[in-house]
Amino acid sequence: MPAPKVHVHPHLVSASVALAADLRARVQAKPDLVIGLPTGSTPTALYAEMVRLHDADGMDWSRMRSFNLDEFWPIAPNHPQSFTRFMREQLFEPADLDPSRTHVPSGDVAAASIAKHCAAYEAAIQKCGGIEVQILGVGLNGHLGFNEPGAARDSRTGLVELAESTRARATAAFAPEQVPTRAITMGLGTILEAREIVVLAFGAEKANAVAAAIEGPVSEECPASLLQEHAKVRWFLDESAAGSLNRIWPP
Ligand code: GLP
Repeated sequence: MPAPKVHVHPHLVSASVALAADLRARVQAKPDLVIGLPTGSTPTALYAEMVRLHDADGMDWSRMRSFNLDEFWPIAPNHPQSFTRFMREQLFEPADLDPSRTHVPSGDVAAASIAKHCAAYEAAIQKCGGIEVQILGVGLNGHLGFNEPGAARDSRTGLVELAESTRARATAAFAPEQVPTRAITMGLGTILEAREIVVLAFGAEKANAVAAAIEGPVSEECPASLLQEHAKVRWFLDESAAGSLNRIWPP
């Protein structure tokens, strides 16, 4: 199996700044780069640095094409916890992306239209030529997007049930009785088709998931372990998230 490249940084900010610099070079070379984007707490410093590069250095991200990983369902696009709103506020508006080139699964598509919506999402990715760089966070249980343990490695974009542990983590953000039970997520098959994958993980709470993903058995019980079968994966970690790894990668 191909060895992943693991970059361990002293702090999440230096890891995020390094990745933003990498993306800037990629987009300068190919302004309409097709990128897959995550939400959650993990990428916020990356997005802040991309905004800073736009504001302070005049970086033009406007031709980049983006596809987000996931969205709760059902949720209104203006709900404070909607990933659509998160992306608009954290990156799309402040970094001046072209709204016609950004894509987030819809949280308010009608139940009867979900299958059609998800097929159209896959088709839109294909129409762009596929995702060139997929950025990922990783869940405490090894989930990717909202592909929870047990998800099929060839799954496509669709509606999924959230794991109890994922819902429990979300209770800090939602009123307890309002934590969604479902979400629309790119499938593991969709994610693994990206030509290049970059995974971000920060903090000691991610150390076990990171070690299971990089050094554990390849299993659908840990979706992030499936990344071991991908030819081009880079991990950007801080020292705490790298704390349970047995060796320095590549070995
Ligand atoms: C969330 C998202 C994932 C994300 C992960 C980690 O629920 N669905 O795409 O990578 O769980 O979240 P965080 O970055 O907040 O730890």
